[in-house]
Amino acid sequence: MELPFAESFKIKMVESIRKSSREEREKWIKDSGYNLFGLKSDKVFIDLLTDSGTGAMSDHQWSEMMLGDESYAGASSYFKVKSAIQELLGFEYFLPTHQGRAAENVLFSVLVKEGDIIPGNSHFDTTKGHIEFRKATAADCTIDEAFDTTLSHPFKGNIDPVKLENILISSGENIPFIIVTVTCNSSGGQPVSIENLKMVKQLADKYGKIVVFDSARFAENAYFIKLREKGYQDKSIREIVLEMFACADVMTMSAKKDAIVNMGGFIAMRSKELHTKASVFNIMFEGYITYGGMSGRDLNALAQGLYEGTEFDYLETRIRQVEYLGKRLMDFGIPVQQPIGGHAVFVDAKRFLPHLPKEEFQAQTLAVELYLEAGVRGVEIGALLADRDPVTRENRYPALELMRLAIPRRVYTNNHIDVVAVALKNIYDRRETIRKGLKIVTEAPIMRHFTVTLDRVC
Ligand code: F0G
Repeated sequence: MELPFAESFKIKMVESIRKSSREEREKWIKDSGYNLFGLKSDKVFIDLLTDSGTGAMSDHQWSEMMLGDESYAGASSYFKVKSAIQELLGFEYFLPTHQGRAAENVLFSVLVKEGDIIPGNSHFDTTKGHIEFRKATAADCTIDEAFDTTLSHPFKGNIDPVKLENILISSGENIPFIIVTVTCNSSGGQPVSIENLKMVKQLADKYGKIVVFDSARFAENAYFIKLREKGYQDKSIREIVLEMFACADVMTMSAKKDAIVNMGGFIAMRSKELHTKASVFNIMFEGYITYGGMSGRDLNALAQGLYEGTEFDYLETRIRQVEYLGKRLMDFGIPVQQPIGGHAVFVDAKRFLPHLPKEEFQAQTLAVELYLEAGVRGVEIGALLADRDPVTRENRYPALELMRLAIPRRVYTNNHIDVVAVALKNIYDRRETIRKGLKIVTEAPIMRHFTVTLDRVC
């Protein structure tokens, strides 16, 4: 008999979590304005809000913490990260930042100005926020297949070459760079193929543009390439990672994902000139260039995390757990984005609650239901996140209205995953009874989903 699959780690330290009653949860979610970000974490049993900064560090990462060099300038911890980036990702220069959006802020302060257009594949919300904050526009060139959740395509994060070239022709002068998010979070944690990355680089070269990778989940992207792209089965994750980054001139990184740290980020680049220009903003916003908002111990853990995050066994354990949740939900007939993404399962709320109007925020309504059912916290990736159009101030209703269940790295067992799956099945069985959604009470002018307060439509 073939042995079953098992995790490539064992558990050395545990943290207690607490169950609650439905009555308690009714009160807590109402008090938080039906916004899951507003909940205290001890009111949550299984927290799938994000896989960002929520992973469990390894014993090696914790021991690296003790070796951190806290010197203000020239710390050995900086050089540890620098050499990990050079070896694993192939970039000569780097600047540490405290997290991914800080890297965007520093880099875009150099590269983006009012009126610019930045093509990419479903830009992540902070990326789009930093672009729109500078009165520039994010142009989505993702392939159409990404927006049909029923369609199984191996690389739904891919950029459509025709859409990209059209915009390069029509708006070339206003395009400072092309940004590719690997994996593509907004379209469901979907990977981009090497073939597609090479195509983007070729078009960028043809039109004299630079390519930036938003790299939060670059290692998960490499894992999918190894599994799905012809000719890559026998290559190691690290070989694939280097081949991916050979198509980029610059990368921004939220190390809270694939470097498995609780806080951290960086920008890496090939150009010394860009490094010099970005250093000015890094010093202003983040700190001196050899620490950039991070302590030495955190830099050490990040360097170690880059090595662990690019190991096949680790990635296999991680992505198979996400797939396990996806398969359980599919077995129950629950509509999910297919194929299952790298870091999360995305439930198609439009198909789950088709009788609710989009104006009542289907995915947010579903996320609230899941919390009430079992104390599980997911997150809306839909109309609330899509925000209002910066010019017309009208609500934007994206093609996909999703509830994301993001799985923290090395944190939950498959028993937890089973609770999540059965809770959603119970809701699916009574979905017809969910007749009312939510309405906005208060909202911020930008990135409203974090702080929006809602109430039930009566
Ligand atoms: N880019 C991508 C693709 C991301 O997913 C994130 C964060 C960022 C940039 C920003 O990084 O949080 O370190 O500032 N995503 C988190 C999430 C928040 O839940 O998906 P950050």
